Amino acid sequence: MRPSLWIILPDSPTTRRAVDSYAVPHVRRVLTGLLCLLSAAAWAGPAPQADPDNAQQVQRGKHIYQRFCALCHGVDLQGQPNWRQRKADGKLPAPPHDASGHTWHHPDAMLFGIIKQGLVPPYAPPDYATDMPAWGDTLRDTDIWAVLAYIKSRWSAETRKMQQELANEAATQALP
Ligand code: HEC
Repeated sequence: MRPSLWIILPDSPTTRRAVDSYAVPHVRRVLTGLLCLLSAAAWAGPAPQADPDNAQQVQRGKHIYQRFCALCHGVDLQGQPNWRQRKADGKLPAPPHDASGHTWHHPDAMLFGIIKQGLVPPYAPPDYATDMPAWGDTLRDTDIWAVLAYIKSRWSAETRKMQQELANEAATQALP
């Protein structure tokens, strides 16, 4: 069937031939192109995430980490000494981000939230006193995902798997 083209083109043997030989395949090509574009747009949509296997993202994250995070969390992600003990001011030192800390106990989405918003509810009690800054005004979302990708790239495959399992458990518990 040759659909809507007949509405705009006069029906004569010439136009019929023209439509057969050119317009219909052409329209098809245009439509196929549009469909490809649409599906490409749909693919561009998924939420950004931290991919420790994406070398480019990890490299970017490493730069950002060294510039903004290493000061407290350590150039080698080792954290501050005695990080489990509160300091004289009652605040906790910066924990390591390697497997010896507890960063991997949390799902990516929560870590993203902590980095972007700081340790405020729902990540910490209201008015929680902490030295961890909120980075939402300094870093773009893609920077934060990149830092996370770098941190995760420093975990063993086993630690990454455990984080995923804990995240899955947390997701199940969150269901009504
Ligand atoms: C001025 C020091 C400081 C800087 C700079 C800093 N942090 Fe922190 N961060 C802390 C402290 C202190 C804590 C622990 C806070 C607490 O529990 O009270 C913390 C906690 C965290 C946590 C939670 C860890 C967990 O296991 O619960 C994450 C994630 C984190 N920081 C990521 C980052 C990232 C990413 C950067 C760089 C963009 C950064 N931090 C820069 C001091 C800092």
